[in-house]
Amino acid sequence: MSNSAVFPPSREFVRNAHVQGMDAYLDLYHRAEQDPEKFWADIASQEIYWFEKWSKVLDWQPPFSKWFVGGKTNVSYNCVDRHCLTHRKNKVAILWEGEPGDQRFITYQELLRLVSRFASVLQSRGYKAGDRAVIYMPMVPELPIAMLACARLGIAHSVVFGGFSGEALKARIQDLGAAIVITADGGFRRGKKVKLKPAVDEALVDCPDVRDVIVYRRTCSEIAMKEGRDHWWHVLDEGASEDCPAVPLDSEHPLYVLYTSGTTGKPKGILHSTGGYLTQTTATMKWVFDLHDSDTYWCSADIGWVTGHSYIVYGPLSAGATTVMYEGALDYPNFDRWWRIIEKYRVNIFYTSPTAIRSLIRQGEHWPDAHDLSSLRLLGSVGEPINPAAWEWYHRVIGKGRCPIVDTWWQTETGSIMIAPMPGAVPLKPGSGTLPMPGIIADIVDLKGIPVGDDHEGFLIIRKPWPSMIRTIWGDPDRYHEQYWGKLPGIYFTGDAARRDADGYYWVLGRVDDVMNVSGHRLSTMEVESALVHHPAVAEAAVVGKPHEITGQAVCCFVTLKKGEWDHEALGKELRQWVAHEIGNFARPEEIRFSDALPKTRSGKIMRRLLREIVTSNTVSGDVTTLEDLSVVTKLAAQHDED
Ligand code: WT7
Repeated sequence: MSNSAVFPPSREFVRNAHVQGMDAYLDLYHRAEQDPEKFWADIASQEIYWFEKWSKVLDWQPPFSKWFVGGKTNVSYNCVDRHCLTHRKNKVAILWEGEPGDQRFITYQELLRLVSRFASVLQSRGYKAGDRAVIYMPMVPELPIAMLACARLGIAHSVVFGGFSGEALKARIQDLGAAIVITADGGFRRGKKVKLKPAVDEALVDCPDVRDVIVYRRTCSEIAMKEGRDHWWHVLDEGASEDCPAVPLDSEHPLYVLYTSGTTGKPKGILHSTGGYLTQTTATMKWVFDLHDSDTYWCSADIGWVTGHSYIVYGPLSAGATTVMYEGALDYPNFDRWWRIIEKYRVNIFYTSPTAIRSLIRQGEHWPDAHDLSSLRLLGSVGEPINPAAWEWYHRVIGKGRCPIVDTWWQTETGSIMIAPMPGAVPLKPGSGTLPMPGIIADIVDLKGIPVGDDHEGFLIIRKPWPSMIRTIWGDPDRYHEQYWGKLPGIYFTGDAARRDADGYYWVLGRVDDVMNVSGHRLSTMEVESALVHHPAVAEAAVVGKPHEITGQAVCCFVTLKKGEWDHEALGKELRQWVAHEIGNFARPEEIRFSDALPKTRSGKIMRRLLREIVTSNTVSGDVTTLEDLSVVTKLAAQHDED
């Protein structure tokens, strides 16, 4: 692997980079390794405004960390107010394009007005530090405005991706104990108005603790408004005060909870806090994206996922960037929509996912070739390992061979980028996230926690706490401990398999647990299984990820039915729809296979490994000595050939 193609940064890129050359990277890395607390304290003082300085950099009572203990700061203040005191006051903070082509250019001063007004609205309705809000919105500027208004007052927010169903929304509102939901009538997707509010109404039937619903009008769709509970954003905004100062909050004050899939059916609420999160997302904006004041930066993710939290909203705004936000689909009205946006706004830095790149490759090079992409100077990738064909295309067709590609490995739990090249320093190897960020002590170990050595596969782990790390699982500290720090005592377990080559480069291979990665979105097999078994016809279900050309993995379900006469074709359709309703459209299974029984071990555990083999190759080669009934497996594999 260490012999594969290597792409060193160009001299021109190095000349203007924040971190210039390998020696500069190594210097940062070693300084952080020798004295991590001093290293992070220096960054926190340089990059962040503090109302009150901390008394202790790190309090580490494994697995619980506190960073910048006693320090007082505010994320909203750092992302908005402080820039208004500088040359950035009239710089565009959020450059937004709606799917229909409408545009908004929100400067830092304008953002301050909008955030302050909405914070006043929340305050006047009685919300304050310690409360929780759920935000369920399309990709409109009012989504980050709502997040920043919550952060301003110390209200922890949980953004629920608009693709989640009412059922999934309900589970999150209940788990968080939110008292307010901020939403919209709908958003635009592929030229159509997609309603959001009905899912909120469905969810709230079982959420008696929600007092207020604030609805932003985006599409002017007909929706129901419940008297006393539901209020229009624009009505509350009328006459709202623009004087609503950011509240100095403890460095460990909860900033947000983001739900993600684990290995059980119940999503985990990943808690991030204030000072440490902000410090590290801001630092990585400069290290990985080499962000300069003149850059126009665009991350194409949805804010409903962590990538959008850290690298559309908090990281870029704290660093004083112009962050581009696009509301709609990448193929609307045509497959060149993204390239049009890059050309139109002269985007310099573009961050997207391998799954998007693969879907665009399929459409042909004439789409990007019709546009002037010469403003681009840096490309990024996130969500899954980037395969060589996608890397090559991204580099040649989009970057014209000029732009480094930063392949960024991180997780919802890590809060910010952990393994990635500093583009003016670290030579690239396609498919590798290259080297850890300063302050990140990674390793590859076996089941006992012993390092496996160069070029051997093992578990990717992190040895030391880092400022933007997960603080706990909301309401479940035991699960937090057991899931991340209990598998190998005192070591953070990422759930990924990886290999490190002789140059120290990391190659992440994928998940080692029952977590699928569909279009860069994390989905647990158990979550889909528990949705399926809720259906009255289903007796048992086993779900595995199946390799998929575009989405990386696709959801494939094996289902046994209760006694009765079933029309398999109709039921297959119904079950796919059922899962979409229980979780969300993005979780809709690609395939449902019916079977009389599922392969199980003698102790009754479903052997997903075998099912994975079946969907990948339609044969079974692994060890089946513990199988209860081998004929089940042969039948499942054969069944596919008949179809
Ligand atoms: C999992 C985390 C971090 C934002 C997006 C997903 C996989 C993520 C990479 C990459 C190889 C990657 C891992 C990780 N992953 N980025 N550059 N190379 N794998 O966040 O939903 O928390 O998923 O995504 O498997 O554990 P997430």
